[in-house]
Amino acid sequence: MDRPLVRKGKRVSLGIYQREEIPRMYREFADSEVQQFLNRPDRLYYLEGEYDWYDGLKKDEKSRVMAVLLNKGAGKGRSDVEHELIGSVGIHGIDTISRNAELGYLLFRKYWGKGYATEAVSLGIDYAFQTLNLRKLIARVMEPNRASSSVLEKNGFVLAGRLTRHHYIKSYGYVDELNYELHRGSVND
Ligand SMILES: CC(C)(COP(=O)(O)OP(=O)(O)OC[C@H]1O[C@@H](n2cnc3c(N)ncnc32)[C@H](O)[C@@H]1OP(=O)(O)O)[C@@H](O)C(=O)NCCC(=O)NCCS
Repeated sequence: MDRPLVRKGKRVSLGIYQREEIPRMYREFADSEVQQFLNRPDRLYYLEGEYDWYDGLKKDEKSRVMAVLLNKGAGKGRSDVEHELIGSVGIHGIDTISRNAELGYLLFRKYWGKGYATEAVSLGIDYAFQTLNLRKLIARVMEPNRASSSVLEKNGFVLAGRLTRHHYIKSYGYVDELNYELHRGSVND
């Protein structure tokens, strides 16, 4: 599928969501393991609601949500690279005065553990700092979500603080929220 790319990486890229991908996203996001650290167990997701979300996204100046795309065919002597949707990276709550925002991400479950999230987040950071000209990103992680902390730490985020027993997850009870931050340059910039 032809689509504008926002960032092209070695194994994954970031691109513009296509409306026809909404049903696929809806199915993949409904996975209970994908949802467990996103703290919205009480919500009922309707397919129609996802279309509303998509329509809102196009007008939302405070967010940039991008499709994470697997570069298929790359490295096999092919110059034409096909892309398969495997998840999402979002920059939310963009504050143009303080020049900060919050980073979020998720991959469809079958693509976990291959380093794709680490690369997708690095592309999201590059977009936030180089294109949006932000100076700082934050990310919030429920403590048992070790894979997410690892993705952030591999991208240079540092732990800035924690909110104790902040979220309730059925299988863990009350868990801490870890607050990570990443400055573009020095902390004094
Ligand atoms: C968080 C998420 C994006 C990570 O995706 P991923 O594909 O596993 O990420 P990567 O493969 O790039 O890196 C994961 C790292 O975490 C490590 N990891 C995974 N599970 C772990 C665990 N239980 N304990 C410690 N480290 C763990 C992996 O070993 C890997 O590190 P390595 O490359 O040094 O080996 C994915 O699990 C996801 O989409 N989860 C659901 C949504 C979500 O929680 N989003 C984040 C909200 S803050």
